Amino acid sequence: MNITGKRILITGGSSGIGLALARAFVAKGANVVITGRRADALANAVRNLQQNAQQSDYGSNTRVCGVAADVAKPDGRATTITQALEALGGLDILVNNAGGVRAGRLENTAEADLQAMLDVDLVAPILLTRDALPALRASGEAMIVNVSSGIALVGVPFYATYAAAKAGLARFGEALRRELKGEGVHVLTAYPSGTDTPMMRSNRAGPELGFTLEPADDVAKAIVDGIESNAFDVIRGGGARAQMIALNGENPAAIDERFLGLKRSLEVAVKDHAAL
Ligand SMILES: NC(=O)c1ccc[n+]([C@@H]2O[C@H](COP(=O)([O-])OP(=O)(O)OC[C@H]3O[C@@H](n4cnc5c(N)ncnc54)[C@H](OP(=O)(O)O)[C@@H]3O)[C@@H](O)[C@H]2O)c1
Repeated sequence: MNITGKRILITGGSSGIGLALARAFVAKGANVVITGRRADALANAVRNLQQNAQQSDYGSNTRVCGVAADVAKPDGRATTITQALEALGGLDILVNNAGGVRAGRLENTAEADLQAMLDVDLVAPILLTRDALPALRASGEAMIVNVSSGIALVGVPFYATYAAAKAGLARFGEALRRELKGEGVHVLTAYPSGTDTPMMRSNRAGPELGFTLEPADDVAKAIVDGIESNAFDVIRGGGARAQMIALNGENPAAIDERFLGLKRSLEVAVKDHAAL
């Protein structure tokens, strides 16, 4: 798919991977709506993106707008879709990027935190996709990009509910891709590995525990490449990650053993990891 001139809604585009994606889309002459709950952070991001647009090859032809709304709530989803369609005059690409995490032992995790993760990471993308589909169908050449996680491919201890939500999102995307095959709407699933964003600031696990962080701009570039080549999946984390995914399929007990050795340190390092 050629991104130039496309009308794109990115949920959670005011920071991290979503903002990096918005920058990459604007540089290619797309019209972009970003969203987020914090109005100040959103307005700041929109201002910066508008400046980027002015300096790009496409200049004032590019529209950038923000919608302040919570996609985990029904009225926030309605506001997100209505205002995005109004600002863009239609929709070609929906990026379900907004997400949240609360790490920790399952039995120590509050029900409200488990529910919040499922709402923002799984329920919101499904319902936003459903509500955006009429506009995406009208586009004629449309794409849904679901930002899942490497944890959907290899479950990591102390992230069980996050893994469930992200694996659910990934399988949702695969099923929907087949449901929509031949109908003008493609589905791509992105699996970022550790990425240097505000979401990771409260995670103290380092490379010794398997957490290395790559720049959000690199993840965004890979997703843009995936969109342009109509890829099914964009999997980050390099060769080491690819080996781990393969081993998890062939010999999951070997991965269990690896985590057994790391478990005590990992539990301490991620106990305060929260971004909800
Ligand atoms: N960073 C990583 O290592 C990593 C790895 C794998 C997957 N991911 C996934 O990548 C996606 C982006 O994460 P990130 O690392 O870029 O995080 P981030 O920097 O914390 O950005 C999250 C964005 O989502 C918005 N957001 C969060 N909850 C929202 C809600 N309920 N309604 C609307 N907007 C909401 C945030 O704005 P407000 O706070 O103002 O709402 C912000 O714009 C997430 O789905 C995450 O699970 C991240």
